[in-house]
Amino acid sequence: MNIKRICCIGAGYVGGPTMTVIAQKCPHIKLTVVDINESRIAAWNSKDLNKLPIFEPGLDKIVEEVRGRNLFFSTDIDEAINEADMIFISVNTPTKNYGKGKGMASDLKYIELCARQIAKVSRQNKIVVEKSTLPVRTASAIKSILDNTGNGVHFQILSNPEFLAEGTAIQDLLKPDRVLIGGDASTKEGEVAIQALIDVYLNWVPKEQILTTNVWSSELSKLTANAFLAQRVSSINAMSEICEKTGADIREVSKAIGMDSRIGSKFLNASVGFGGSCFQKDILNLVYIAKSYGLNEVADYWEQVVIMNEHQKKRFSDNIVSTLYNTVSGKKITFLGWAFKKNTNDTRESAAIRVADDLLNERAEISVYDPKVTEERIYEDLNYLGTRSSIENKRLLTINKDPYRACKNSHAIAILTEWDEFKNYDWKNIYKNMEKPAFVFDGRGLLNKEELEIIGFIYYNIGTGN
Ligand code: UDX
Ligand code: ADP
Repeated sequence: MNIKRICCIGAGYVGGPTMTVIAQKCPHIKLTVVDINESRIAAWNSKDLNKLPIFEPGLDKIVEEVRGRNLFFSTDIDEAINEADMIFISVNTPTKNYGKGKGMASDLKYIELCARQIAKVSRQNKIVVEKSTLPVRTASAIKSILDNTGNGVHFQILSNPEFLAEGTAIQDLLKPDRVLIGGDASTKEGEVAIQALIDVYLNWVPKEQILTTNVWSSELSKLTANAFLAQRVSSINAMSEICEKTGADIREVSKAIGMDSRIGSKFLNASVGFGGSCFQKDILNLVYIAKSYGLNEVADYWEQVVIMNEHQKKRFSDNIVSTLYNTVSGKKITFLGWAFKKNTNDTRESAAIRVADDLLNERAEISVYDPKVTEERIYEDLNYLGTRSSIENKRLLTINKDPYRACKNSHAIAILTEWDEFKNYDWKNIYKNMEKPAFVFDGRGLLNKEELEIIGFIYYNIGTGN
């Protein structure tokens, strides 16, 4: 089966970049990305490429090349569904914040809405591909909604989890380690659907890197990959606390163990704690699944990865308070970075949010500079916590578009995101304009301690404690 038209529901961090790359590599396929969020679609269609809703290195250039050629962004969801042979579901699946499974299970209401809409408007057979991270066996729920439309249309459901990491999404999409496709190969129609998706990827991915499994293995593989990666970060963060107490240096420990070929060097940077839309959500989801099967030891084992991460964030803010003579009340503290990692404007689950909340509870005054995150986003993140009124948040936390001004007269700087540009600042100048003694806290091993010491900074790295 030759795919000619693809529709992607959800123009977010996954759907947008993924469809852009498919469009570039498959000029013979027309792709339409749809979303219920009108302003997001307008931003994707914006002439000024700096206004795209997502910042991702290399994305703007490819959008410029393919938008209007074979890639379209639209709010006409029904039409895009109806004309497509293949539909990707790329909507968000946040952790449920109500009812059964609250705080643990994935909220599937957006997925279900999509399935119902596909069922309602489809007039011909279609292949539906789940791209969002979903709990194991979601495909069966989607299938049962789609199979009960009563209008004689047949759907094949595939799972094709996304392994791209934000900040490197374009590279990850162009050169994926592997592409995973889960489907039902036991039926002829299932086999045809799997092959149709394989053929899309074969336009640029070598066939040895395309892996097929059953749907459940594919869904669980995504959760497992994220759980393993997050576990590495929590493991190294746990060791960083031991390093602080014993005088060992976590960077040296990371390097030493990373050279063991059985362990490998990636994902061993001690940090303020992992963030992002996937790690915490996917692990909580795994914990919920384990609990629902009565596997309590398995659930506890994975939950500890998240507990450790919360502890690391709290430790970071506690460290700031205790270093500043046990009080930050009325003191200006500057945050360099708000995004959950560099090279993205995404702030979901960013450690900065939690650290800011803790320090505001201690009555600190916070000034934030991030090169890509918008002012509205920062206030939304804080207001969402519900700890303080939005007026109070606005009074206590200010946002500055100039990093030097953000740092002026502050008692301490906390580097919450490892943006490369921070390394090139005129740190002597920054130091000159700070209250003394001035401190800089770094959770990601970013700045060179010796350099900062030369200009008289008292430097704290949560990974080394010195
Ligand atoms: C992750 C997975 O990598 C990706 O495959 C999946 O599809 C989605 O979730 P992402 O959340 O974009 O991607 O970023 P990732 O690079 O994995 O980083 C997650 C968090 O861990 C970030 O906050 C990062 O700063 C932190 N991290 C990462 C560390 O603290 N230390 C490290 O050594 C590596
Ligand atoms: P991700 O990181 O998974 O891509 P995002 O939140 O960035 O998550 O993107 C998900 C997008 O899906 C959002 O822009 C949201 O508006 C969109 N969305 C959610 N539900 C629907 C729906 N039923 N129909 C169309 N778009 C939807």
